[in-house]
Amino acid sequence: MSERTLVLVKPDGVARGLVGEVLKRIETRGYKLVALELRTLDRATAENHYGEHSDKPFFKDLVDFITSGPLLAAVIEGNDAISGWRTMMGATNPSNAVPGTIRGDLATEMQNNVSHGSDSPESAAREIALFFPNL
Ligand code: RTP
Ligand code: MG
Repeated sequence: MSERTLVLVKPDGVARGLVGEVLKRIETRGYKLVALELRTLDRATAENHYGEHSDKPFFKDLVDFITSGPLLAAVIEGNDAISGWRTMMGATNPSNAVPGTIRGDLATEMQNNVSHGSDSPESAAREIALFFPNL
C-alpha cells in the first residue's frame, strides 16, 4: 500500500556531507520525494518530535543533539514506505546494523546514527504534520 513517512538526515549526517548519499538511496530504491527542507529545530519542536522518549535518561542529550545544527527533513512516498525505510536505515544502534543499511554503512555510535524514520502509520501522520503542516 502506498504510504508516506517522515525522514530526517540528522545533524551528524548533514555535518558529514551525507545528505546526497541518503537521498540517492531513497531515490534509487524507488521512493518519491514529496517534501524536502533543511532546517535547525528549536527545542520545543525537538521535544515534541521525540515526545515518546521524554522519560528516558538519554532524552536531554537527544534533544541537544537533534537541535545542534541543520537537519534535512523529508517526506517520502511509496509502497510500504514506513517499514521499507526503517529496513533501509538498519538497527538503531549502528553496532547492530547490518552492512548495506545506512546505519550499518555510515555510522558507529548510538546517538549519531545519521537518519530517522517514523515507526508506525500513527507516528508518520503525527511527524509529517509537525514538520510539514501545509502538506
Ligand atoms: P529514530 O526515532 O531517530 O528514527 O530512531 P529509532 O526509532 O531507531 O530509535 P528510538 O528508540 O526512537 O531512539 C531515538 C533516537 O534516540 C537516540 N538514542 N540514544 N543513548 C541511548 O541509549 C539512545 N537510545 C536512543 C538515537 O539517536 C535514536 O535514533
Ligand atoms: Mg524512533
